[in-house]
Amino acid sequence: MLVSDKKQELSKRIEIIDRYYKVDALLDEKTDKDAVAKYYRKSDFFYNLIHSRGGGNIHMGLSNDGAFHKDDFLEQARFINSFINDKTEKVLEVGAGKVANSKYLAMRHSSIFFTALDLPHRSFKKNKVPANITLCEGDFNDLSDFEEESFDIVFGVETICHSEDKKRTITEISRVLKPGGKLIIFDVYEPKPRNEMTDFEKRVSSFTLASMRVTDAGQYIGDMKKILAESGFSQIEVTDLTKQIKPSLLRLERLSEYYFNHPALLRFLKATIPCDATMNSIAGWLMPLTFDGKNIHQYNRIVCVRCT
Ligand SMILES: C[S@@+](CC[C@H](N)C(=O)[O-])C[C@H]1O[C@@H](n2cnc3c(N)ncnc32)[C@H](O)[C@@H]1O
Repeated sequence: MLVSDKKQELSKRIEIIDRYYKVDALLDEKTDKDAVAKYYRKSDFFYNLIHSRGGGNIHMGLSNDGAFHKDDFLEQARFINSFINDKTEKVLEVGAGKVANSKYLAMRHSSIFFTALDLPHRSFKKNKVPANITLCEGDFNDLSDFEEESFDIVFGVETICHSEDKKRTITEISRVLKPGGKLIIFDVYEPKPRNEMTDFEKRVSSFTLASMRVTDAGQYIGDMKKILAESGFSQIEVTDLTKQIKPSLLRLERLSEYYFNHPALLRFLKATIPCDATMNSIAGWLMPLTFDGKNIHQYNRIVCVRCT
């Protein structure tokens, strides 16, 4: 259970947030793929300039020394790179965003074919990519455009959290992976099943996720492991990287704190910038407290192998 000073600090922040963004209304917001597509279209500016500092990485940096460095954004791609070898022919990235991860890999492996998939929004197909990347618009819950057992590696960085039907997403991925192929996921999870979370923890988790248009359905890491095992995956390894994202979270917290502590600036930005973008400040302010690794949120890397 949350220690009381953390609970108090979260309550205090939520009370302030509620003055500007109605918590109950946000909890009722849709998180389906149309809402997700709109959210990324409207937040493009924020992610590009503020979050990734022009790097196109729409994910948390992974720090190895407790401090934030821009280079930390490449850590997920570096890890995925370690699974590419002489036998790798085809790699699929689901929820590729600005394609930063696939670009990193494709530039290092010119003879391998990469496919990057994302929802049809914010001119995904206009991303400039090396010749060995194919950009496809579509939904990771329907991979019928791809042949069965055709990819050696499928990966998704901070994207499957958006799926309201994770069983379906993982079944689709399993279908297109070759037997023996690898699935690599980096994502937010709830470390406890919902029936073991307090009402406060559930509410804070749902609210924080909703501010990034992430569903609160099926986020328990134990459920994900079960889905993977039922969908034909073995050697399922989960690594908790919550500590490594802390410097990224603290950086976003500083920006968000400034925003919420300057009501005149907040009102001006809220009136001039799309709500989907300014709402990122909510997650920015709460996540350093919710990512405690054991009660509300955890940042996990999952590696598993499609059974032969
Ligand atoms: C947090 S961003 C991560 C982008 C990229 N993976 C990265 O690391 O920079 C999540 C991405 O997942 C995409 N996404 C969400 N739901 C999706 C779906 N059903 N099918 C395909 N892409 C989806 C979003 O459009 C968004 O670009």
